[in-house]
Amino acid sequence: MDQKKATLTLPDGKIIELPFIEGKMGKPAIDISQLSQHGLHTYDPGFMSTASCGSAITFIDGEKSILLYRGYPIEQLAEHCDFLDVAYLLLNGELPNQNEKTKYVSEVKKHYLLHDQLNSVFRGFRRDAHPMAVMAAVVASKSAFYFDEMNVYNRNHRKISANRLIGKVPSIAAWSYLYNLGRPFNYPRNDLSYAANFLNMLFSSPTQDYEINPVLVRAFERILILHADHEQNASTSTVRLVGSSGANPFACISSGIASLWGPAHGGANEATLKMLQEIRSESRIGEYIERAKDSTDSFRLMGFGHRVYRNKDPRAEIMRKTCHEVLSELGLENDSIFKLALKLEKIALEDDYFVKKKLYPNVDFYSGIVMRALGIPNSMFTAVFALARTAGWIAHWNEMFVADNLKIGRPRQIYKGKLLRNVSLDRNVSKD
Ligand code: CMC
Repeated sequence: MDQKKATLTLPDGKIIELPFIEGKMGKPAIDISQLSQHGLHTYDPGFMSTASCGSAITFIDGEKSILLYRGYPIEQLAEHCDFLDVAYLLLNGELPNQNEKTKYVSEVKKHYLLHDQLNSVFRGFRRDAHPMAVMAAVVASKSAFYFDEMNVYNRNHRKISANRLIGKVPSIAAWSYLYNLGRPFNYPRNDLSYAANFLNMLFSSPTQDYEINPVLVRAFERILILHADHEQNASTSTVRLVGSSGANPFACISSGIASLWGPAHGGANEATLKMLQEIRSESRIGEYIERAKDSTDSFRLMGFGHRVYRNKDPRAEIMRKTCHEVLSELGLENDSIFKLALKLEKIALEDDYFVKKKLYPNVDFYSGIVMRALGIPNSMFTAVFALARTAGWIAHWNEMFVADNLKIGRPRQIYKGKLLRNVSLDRNVSKD
């Protein structure tokens, strides 16, 4: 069968044929990679119409509310798997069998402990530093620990890096918070599950053990699973771009953490809770809805809208249910913030502006409330997102090297600056 082609007619009448690329699911794309040979570039700020790579990891159908990791629906993974099953799946393409799982868990746990010298890196920060700032810097600093022996083009080295990152990021995230509180650093515990170990590091102290509640651990596990990957979002694309130059994997993941921190991306969970705390009472919801609709006001309803989902975010629905489970376990059904969130969601979903623009609650709308109920402070919400997304980032980073056409990411631009001019020998003359 002939390959489908799109035809581009230039202003001078020249015709360029561009091949169509069909993925296994989802929308087709037009392959414009040969355009530069014709002296042309495409212009697409924000990558609204650009597929940056081929990937077999995650599939999203934003119109139908579908999210699949390696073909498995997110709902089934959240119900039947734990986070390390999902991390293994993202990295290797298949869920592990019993033997593979035992081996993988032990490989990851081998890397739980942090090098003792990292203590000094943490202690170099101001006490009030945001955990995301500390996390990004400490993860980057690990590239100095694993530099000489690391060859990113070696499959086995990449596998060890993935295990190291997934093993160490929980300790780095927890220590970023403990340092902020001025509490001693808790060591990881290999006898606990990945999720329970993180909660234990966050909440136990030398004088008080943390009581592990299976309902809360399961809820936290879900948060990790739901946030583990989301195809070519801003932070994942950042990790790929940084990685495309052959940079150290710890440096790549640090760049992903930096990108995730922004309020339009992973910072939205923290921003959502701040917004709910600011709204405070149901009587003030209308005022905030009006502000969100006002194009002259930069305020947006945090936890609403998504670049890809133009329908419900399937993760938000799972998080909503988890939220009910956690609040009921803790006897917090009447939690004022949760009630306010439900009311705000209802009002927004019935409002013409949000309906017409297809703005639905996203995962961050509920994850902040669940984390708050678990006792996790606002400042750690995005750090938890980063901890989970490390699995996705490293899977994409690894996939990039397996792809047969790996090239350094190097976009072009439309130049809008000054025309060619000469340096004046007298800088006091007026500038043109
Ligand atoms: N509140 C009010 N208006 C909104 C919102 C919102 N939360 N989101 C989008 N809009 C409006 C926006 O003003 C624009 O209106 P107009 O066409 O009149 O200019 C229209 O909807 C389209 O928005 P956009 O900014 O062009 O859409 P985008 O795809 O570039 O942005 C987004 C997606 C997530 C950045 C945006 O919806 C937003 O800022 N949401 C709030 C922050 C948030 O919750 N982010 C978390 C995303 S989910 C977690 C993740 O995957 O990182």
